[in-house]
Parts: sequence; structure tokens; C-alpha cells
Amino acid sequence: MQLRKFLAQISPITQFVISDNSQVDKRDLAHSEPHYPSPWMSPTAQGWEDAYAKAKEFVSQLTLAEKVNLTTGVGWQGEQCVGQVGSIPRLGFRSLCMQDSPLGIRFADYVSAFSSGQTVAATFDRDLIYRRGKAMGEENKIKGVDVLLGPVAGPIGRVAEGGRNWEGFSPDPYLTGVAIAETIKGVQDAGVIACAKHYIGNEQEHFRQVGESVGRGFNISDTISSNIDDKTMHELYLWPFVDAVRAGVGSIMCSYNQVNNSYACQNSKTLNGLLKGELGFQGFVMSDWQAQHSGAASAVAGLDMTMPGDTEFNTGLSFWGTNLTLAVLNGTVPQYRVDDMAMRIMAAYFKVGRTVGNENPISFDSWTRDTYGPIHFAANEGNQQINWHIDAQEDHGDLIHEIGAKSTVLLKNNGALPLNKPKFLAVIGEDAGPSPLGPNGCSDRGCDKGTLAMGWGSGSADFPYLITPIDALQFQALDDHTRIEAVLDNYAWTTTEALIKQEGATALVFVNADSGEGYIEVDGNAGDRKNLTLWGSGDELIKNVSSICNNTIVVIHSVGPTIVTDWYDSPNVTAILWAGLPGQESGRAIVDVLYGTVNPAARTPFTWAAKAEDYGTEILYEPNNGNGAPQQDFPEGVFIDYRALDHAGIDPIFEFGFGLSYTTFEYSDLTVAKTSAGEYQPTTGQAPEAPTFGNFSTDLDDYLFPESSFPYIWQYIYPYVNTTSSFADASQDPEYGQSADEFLPPGSTDSAAFDLNPAGPGLSDKSGGNPSLFEVLYTVTATITNTGEIAGEEVPQLYVSLGGADDPKVLLRGFDRIAIDPGCTATFTAELTRRDVSNWDVDAQNWVVTDSPKTVYVGPSSRKLTLSAPL
Ligand code: NOJ
Repeated sequence: MQLRKFLAQISPITQFVISDNSQVDKRDLAHSEPHYPSPWMSPTAQGWEDAYAKAKEFVSQLTLAEKVNLTTGVGWQGEQCVGQVGSIPRLGFRSLCMQDSPLGIRFADYVSAFSSGQTVAATFDRDLIYRRGKAMGEENKIKGVDVLLGPVAGPIGRVAEGGRNWEGFSPDPYLTGVAIAETIKGVQDAGVIACAKHYIGNEQEHFRQVGESVGRGFNISDTISSNIDDKTMHELYLWPFVDAVRAGVGSIMCSYNQVNNSYACQNSKTLNGLLKGELGFQGFVMSDWQAQHSGAASAVAGLDMTMPGDTEFNTGLSFWGTNLTLAVLNGTVPQYRVDDMAMRIMAAYFKVGRTVGNENPISFDSWTRDTYGPIHFAANEGNQQINWHIDAQEDHGDLIHEIGAKSTVLLKNNGALPLNKPKFLAVIGEDAGPSPLGPNGCSDRGCDKGTLAMGWGSGSADFPYLITPIDALQFQALDDHTRIEAVLDNYAWTTTEALIKQEGATALVFVNADSGEGYIEVDGNAGDRKNLTLWGSGDELIKNVSSICNNTIVVIHSVGPTIVTDWYDSPNVTAILWAGLPGQESGRAIVDVLYGTVNPAARTPFTWAAKAEDYGTEILYEPNNGNGAPQQDFPEGVFIDYRALDHAGIDPIFEFGFGLSYTTFEYSDLTVAKTSAGEYQPTTGQAPEAPTFGNFSTDLDDYLFPESSFPYIWQYIYPYVNTTSSFADASQDPEYGQSADEFLPPGSTDSAAFDLNPAGPGLSDKSGGNPSLFEVLYTVTATITNTGEIAGEEVPQLYVSLGGADDPKVLLRGFDRIAIDPGCTATFTAELTRRDVSNWDVDAQNWVVTDSPKTVYVGPSSRKLTLSAPL
């Protein structure tokens, strides 16, 4: 079916599914177009030339089993890292170590706990975002990690309640694109491969995995399908992944969900068509943990590495491993595809500057903190030293402190801030203090006790320490001779009331809202939040305190927006701050902002709506397709977050991009200069026929497990066979024996030259898309003046209106963070590329600059568009 027809059908299907919970005939569901064969690497792609030359030299020496070893994880808890592939001892190549998380090293000691991605996005500061990525990369390098499983652009944050939104950056794709690119550059400059995840449409936790859902009593047979039309895919969900690819990301993790009813790790449209074809991605695609659902089919659909390698945790069986070896031997999967997998993996490795045999040893163990223990944890075998307790923190605490302060958004200030030697501070709320269980008391941070400084799930790390707000406030109080008393219990109202009604009290109320990954449920929140209210009756606490104390300052630590409607405009609520999830330096960071050591300049990276419904999107909390895959249509298209509210004409409480300072700024003198860039040039030409690297033996005897060389580990995934009597006997797959023609889609094993995608890069261009898209069409400048009394930083934002009936009112397309002294001016400069002013044309299957009148705006937020000019 043509994609256009699918687009036309998506709305009626939505209504049908929602009105009836019987299972829909698969043929009536949204579906994903096939795209085969899987585009092979382009060794001349800009920035990858050297890496591919080295990869070629290395891969050409490998046996088939060794190549397969690079592609297949050794099984859940088979080695020390959260995922590891097999090693190639013959060439001195140790197994590659993949480790969470996007904010610090999960399951390790002596590492830093950075702010969340969403929090650093609020800085709107490219340099800080880069430095955070670099620092995380450095720690991973020291500990022996090869692939850092982050950063995150999926979820992008389609639904405000989405459990993992905080791991990513912002529901605005431009901001997320900038942030993911800067993070990747930082991580990879430190010599570690970044892994942009979760590709794609992974917008909620409910129903992302069958086992998890069945465990909660939902009897579904397949994971949720995110049904995304082509235009929305390009203009919203794929957008930041373009930036990731352009930044040279080494790997991309495909997600648990289905996309248009095809699993994301075997979706040939999204992997072959979009990622490797249209974007020209040159690195490797790794599956999320247990997100692979087939062997040969996922191989030809573009998957390059399976994690953690077993079909499900600890089955001892793999879709690949032995079966991939056999699939190549019997011709089901062409050699070029496995060679391409190995080349892509090794090119990513060399691209970040690694050299075989010189990697730092893996010096930690994900499964225990014991110094000695089994190196093969699942099998409980190989006792040796497994934790070296190496301190990898360097001086990153200072950076985390700086980011914490520079990411704190001042949402309201009636002159209560900055504090200046207050006489009496009443600090109220559990969120100001420590957890009685310690900062790491709940596994993977799966509880909300004490101050909230990160969310829960695989996106967490262990705190080396956690400076709570009350810790830091007390030291400040000591300096200032401030009387300070804290009630760190949201429900101790009698005590709280007695304190705050005393003469002269300034009440600092700390509140929070948490969420995380779907395998942990906290207080009825199964990953995704069940509502947008504050936890621990935080809204009631604020209302109660502010009903008595006329100087109530609220600090929110949260994973996204909360509904502040009931209390934000009370005259007694004199200031509101959003401090995100600041990581280990939480207390020192908030004190900097409260006392004005740091003049706040951060901007909210999402919208604070008056009601949850105003966002126009919601989590699918109940299956809607009988026992089949729940169907999550995205009927809102590109209209999420501020685009949704703008489109519907709904006023938010605090708009995207909003944030106050202790000084004031004025905007003037907008200029727009058109460059001499030429016309858009669709890419032409062909990729040469699929290359192969080295030969392989077709004698099954050569693949027998080499018992004389090393012992067989229970449940460990190998590329070898255990018997050589026949291919069928050697296989682990009950369906083995079908020929490629019987179950692989047409064209999926073709090796002939193919036409390059007109919207994609040429063979020697930079990856990410057609190079014309990145040409600068306009340079925009504006003058910003600090009209206040103190030095500050301002975040001028550039928005564009593309002018079409289907376009959002405005789209963020540029920003900067500029320090300006009082009375001084600075020039904000932004460059608009062709991509920035284009729409995806579904018919043309390419980007176009439409004839609709376009306008550029510059201002301090998405709703304060002070300056404007036609383009
Ligand atoms: C599943 C999560 O979705 C992913 O983000 C993580 O990297 C893997 N588990 C490994 O822990």
C-alpha cells in the first residue's frame, strides 16, 4: 500500500480501535512499508573514512564465527557489563562493554551522578551540554566501558506523563536535536561510543514489553505499536536522530515498541529506509534488551547487534549467535550483511579513537559490588576479582554543580528572590532532605524518598554522594546567621503550621514528582506517571503553607511539568523555581540560585499547561486491541507540547522557553540577511554493489565449539555449533530449515548496486541527510540589552512560522545563552538552514520549502516573540 493511502486511513482506524476493544484484523491496522535490501556502509562517508579503513583491515582478518561474535551479546549477566558481545582473543580484542546510563554509569561505584538530560536541556547552553557529555564519556572510558547507552531522543516527550521523558531532553525536536548532538560529540571526544536511543516512537512505558504487561495482568501478545505517519515521523520524531547521525554517533538503539505494527528492531522502513538509507547512518544498530524478535528477518531489516544476546533473559538461546553463523552458511543471510554488521561495529569503535588491545580493562561489575565473585554471573562461574573500585569522578562534581544552578528555571518571582541574609527560614517538605535509606537505598532509584535528584530505571546511576537542599541551606544559614528550621515530612502539618506562622518566616517548600522505566512501579505509577500532580500531596502542602505564610517560595524537583494551576498565582506564593533532576549537587545548585550567586537564566524545556488535557496527548493505560498489540495512534501529528497549545489557542501557565532572571533584558534591531545558497539538489547516483571482507569456510566442522580452547559456560551465547551432523541439528531454531525465499521479504538479500535516496547524502557526504538541507539560507541577528542592575545571562530564541495550514504556529529554530553586563548590549546571531524552513513532502518523499509566507521571530520565550520579520 502507498504511504499516502496509509495516511488517509490512519484516522478512521484510530476511531475504530478506541471504540472497540476486540482485536482488529491485522490487515486493517496501520502498517509499515518494506524497505530492502539493508543499505550497506559507505566507507567514504565524510568523517568515517579513516575509521572504515581501519575497520576493513580488522574485519578482513576475521572468521565468520568471529564476525558473528561481534554482533551477538553473550547473554544477560554473562559478563560484567549490562551488555557485552563476544571477544576475539586471537587478535587481542576484548569483548565490547555496553553500559547504561544517559546520566552517569549505572551499576558502578565511584562514579558521578549527573543531572538528567531534560535538566541540562533547560540550560539552553550548548557548551554545558557538551561538557556534560564529555565528562560522562571520560568516566565511562576510565571504567572500561566501550558504548555508553545514551543519550536519549525517544521518548521525545509526546505525552507529559511519559515515564522516561527526563532521560531525554525536550518535546521540542530542535532543542533535543542540538542537545543530543552536543552530548554525542562530548561522549565520543572522550573516546567512548555513544548510543542514541530509543529508535523510534518509544513514547510510553505501558505495553512496551509483553512480559512486563502480562505481569501486570494485561494479556497482550505483542508490544504496543506507535502508529506514526510519514510527515510526523520526519518533522518530529526523526528530527533529533538526524542531528545524532550528523554528529557522528557510533550506534543507535532500536526500541521495544512496534512502529506501524512492525517491531522497531526489525522494521525495514525505519532501519533500512530512514536510518541507513535516507540518513546515511554509518554506525551500527543495537537492539534494546530483548527487543529482537527474529533472526534472519531482523538481520536483513538492518539490525547489527543483538543485546543482551539471548532471546529472552537467561534462555541460553539466541536468534543470532549460532543461528546467524548457520544462516550465513546456508545462504539465508548473505555474507555481505554480516560483514556490514561487523564493519559498522568496528568503524564506530575506531571512529572514537580506540585501538585494539589498548582498551582500559572493565573494572566494575554490574551485578555485585563484591570485590571478588563470578565473572560469568548468570552461570555463577569464573571466580576472580571483578570490582576494582576505581574512582572515575575526577572533578566532575564542580561541573554538576554548575549545571544544577544554570539549569534551574525561575518561573515566578515577586521580588522574594534572591534571598539576602534572611532572618528566619522555614524549610518544608520531604524533598528538601535525605532519604532514610540513603541516596541509593532503592534499587535503580525505584522509590521517591527524600529529595528527588534523578528518576528511576536503567537511566539512573548510583550517587557517590547527594548534597540535599537542607544540607546546603544550613551551611548558607551559618554564614548569614539565619535561623533555619526544617520539617522534612509532608504530612507533619501541626509542626509545620506552628513553625511557619511565626513572625518573619520565609517558607521554602520543596516538592517533587517522579517517574521512570516501566519495569518498576512506584505508588501505582508503572513507569509513566498516572497523573501530573505533585507527589506526597505536594500541591496540598503548598496550598496549606501559602495560606498562612505570605512569603512562600516553592522549589519543584520533577521529571516534567506538573499542574500548578491551583496555587501558582497566589500572592503568598512569592517565587517558584523548577530545578529538574539535578544529580548529586542538588543542594549547592539550588542555594546558588536562591541567593543569587548564580543569576538564573534557564528556560523551561517543556510547557506547563493549566490542565493535563490541554496537552492533547495521553498515555494508553489500557490495551485497546484485545489481546493483540495495543495501538497507539499519533493523531495529533507534529502538534505536541507548545505546538499543541498554540494550535488549539490554549494559554499555558508557563510557556515553553520561559524563564526569569534577576535582571531584565530588552530586544531590538532584528536583521535578516539572505545568503547566496543555491537550489536544493536531490541526491543522485548509486551505491556500489555490496562489498564482502574475507572468506569463510563452509565446512560445518570448522564451527564446532572449540572445547580444547576454553570451557563451555552455561547459558553463554556463542557463535559455534554443538553438533555437526546436519545444519538442522546444529540450529537452535525450531523453524530452521525454511529457505530464504519462504520467509524473507522480496529483495532483502539483493546485493546489486542501488539508487541513493534523493533526500539522503551522497556516498562521500556527511551522514544525516541531503547536504543541501544543511546549507545556511539566512543569517538573523538581534540586539539584546541588559536593562537591569546586575549581570545576567539571556537566552534569546529564534522561532519560525512555516506558514502552511498544517504547520505549527511557531517552531524553535535557534537559541543562544549570552552573558551581558548591566547597561550593555550583545548581538544574538543565528543561522537558518534550508532544513529549518522546509517541510517533508509526503508525495515527493523529500524536503521542500513551500510557497507559504514564512516569518522569523526572536524573543525570550515561545510566547514572547518580541521581534519579527518576513523571510
Ligand atoms: C532497557 C532500556 O530500555 C534501555 O534504555 C537500556 O539501555 C537497556 N534496558 C539496558 O539496561
